[in-house]
Formats: sequence, structure tokens, C-alpha cells
Amino acid sequence: MNPHVRPVALEHASRLVNHGPTVLVTSAHGGRRNVMAAAWSMPVEFTPPRIAVVIDKHTFTRELVVASGAFGICIPGAALADLSYAVGSESGRVTDKFDRHGIVATPGRALGVPLIESGCIAWLECRLIREPHAEDAYDTCFAEVVAAAADERIFANGHWSFRDDNTALHTIHHLGAGKFARADAVVQAQRLKA
Ligand SMILES: Cc1cc2nc3c(=O)[nH]c(=O)nc-3n(C[C@H](O)[C@H](O)[C@H](O)COP(=O)(O)O)c2cc1C
Repeated sequence: MNPHVRPVALEHASRLVNHGPTVLVTSAHGGRRNVMAAAWSMPVEFTPPRIAVVIDKHTFTRELVVASGAFGICIPGAALADLSYAVGSESGRVTDKFDRHGIVATPGRALGVPLIESGCIAWLECRLIREPHAEDAYDTCFAEVVAAAADERIFANGHWSFRDDNTALHTIHHLGAGKFARADAVVQAQRLKA
């Protein structure tokens, strides 16, 4: 158990994905479970908090998400760059990626979706918003965030804190072909003099 995990108020949940981190989408249904990487996710509604995630129609993840009506968003820290790339480069349809990579997941309290603790720094439990007319047409999935949590060493009081002493926990942002930019150099905007 990571002793640094703290609940995040739903009103602050959008901030966890606001800056476009690569996320791990987890899912489970009928005794099967899966995890894939997603670079494309964003907040889309304030209250209740809703997000959009692009989950390719052809992925095994999409199948499990549609079948179960839920998914988890686990945000990997920089230490999980290799694993994030790996689970985004292979299908879980035949081989269980959790077993293959020794990933430990526990069911989320709200929806029971698999949540990856080790190396991840924030977690969202999401209920799929069903759109039968669009399910076959679009890769984008909309969902309501029903629970959120974060590692207080990197996200506390509703804000990220990227510092030199916690770089392994910084979020990663996919540039393509397995290259990631790590969230590092924070720029504080100053008021312009009128
Ligand atoms: C860093 C990274 C980011 C990715 N982002 C997305 C994404 O936003 N949406 C998507 O559908 N696939 C994305 N992919 C591809 C899926 O993760 C990939 O198709 C995966 O193998 C699907 O696994 P599954 O079939 O087991 O669900 C990404 C892959 C990588 C490596």
C-alpha cells in the first residue's frame, strides 16, 4: 500500500488530466482485465466532472469498457515510461498484460476497476456515458469521474507540485515513437503591468 495516496475532491479531478499526461486506461469484465496507454484524454465538463478519452474501437480495452460500462485512469509517473510504452504497444486480447509485466492492480472502491498503484501517481474511476448511436462511429469515449485520488507527494490541495526532489513522480507526455517529455520546468505567469 502506498501511504501517500489521498482522495482528490471531484471538483479538482479535472486538474489531474488537464495538462495532458499519458494515462493508463484499465478495464475488466467477465473475468478478463486489461490496460493500455492513452495519450489523448481531456476534461470536458465541470459538474459532474466528465472526461473524454480516445480508445480505439479495435482495442481489447474498448471491448471491456463497453461491456463493463467503466474504466480506470491511472496516471504513470516518469518511472513507468517503459511500462507505459509496452502496454501501449501490445494487445491484451490473448495475453494478460498484468501477468506478463508483473503489474499489481487492486479494484477501485467506487466501480471496482483495476487500479495500478506501484509507479502511478493519480487515479480516476470513470463511468462510461453510453452513446449507442456513436459507439461504432467514434473512438472517443465520454465518462463521468466518480472517484479520484492522488499521491500527495506530487499532487496536493488541488495542485501539482513538480519539484527536483520528486522527478520519478512527474507526469509523462507522449511525443511519439516511445519518446516522452517529462513535466518539469514549471513557468509561473506574472501579472502584466497595464
Ligand atoms: C504512449 C502511447 C499513447 C497511446 N495513446 C493512445 C490513445 O490516446 N488512444 C488510443 O486509442 N490508443 C493509444 N495508444 C495505442 C494503444 O495503447 C494500443 O493500441 C494498445 O495496444 C491497445 O491495447 P489493447 O488492445 O490491449 O486494449 C497509445 C500507445 C502509446 C504507446
